[in-house]
Amino acid sequence: MLIKDKEIQHVSNDMMNILHEEEIRIINEFHDAVVAKESDKIDELFKVVQFDVEDHFSTEEAMMEESKFYAMQMHKSEHDTMRQKLDKLQKNWESHRDPEEIQRFLEDEFKHWLVLHVARWDSETAMHLGDSM
Ligand SMILES: [Fe+2]
Ligand SMILES: [Fe+2]
Repeated sequence: MLIKDKEIQHVSNDMMNILHEEEIRIINEFHDAVVAKESDKIDELFKVVQFDVEDHFSTEEAMMEESKFYAMQMHKSEHDTMRQKLDKLQKNWESHRDPEEIQRFLEDEFKHWLVLHVARWDSETAMHLGDSM
């Protein structure tokens, strides 16, 4: 298991907490396939991860837009940086098929990014949004 539920801070907006729980579940499943070096499963789950991350980020961006959150651009630019990193990682996977590269990314970069991003940006955004589910 890469990320435990309790490692990700709860924020004051239920929709965002649900998005985060779903992302943790999918990332953990992906990480299991990567560690086991199951190439077919990695192919399949990489698509699921990309779909889920996009759903997570674009839902938050729509909520920020709707509520006119003052720091929307800064929060969105963190999402954009991660979108680019995941796209690059997926392209590298398609050309080199190296599960260790994905494992290093998930363990050394993605996990820490998610913990800090939720603590910094999502929690502040959630306070602005309130529980508007
Ligand atoms: Fe989030
Ligand atoms: Fe976010």
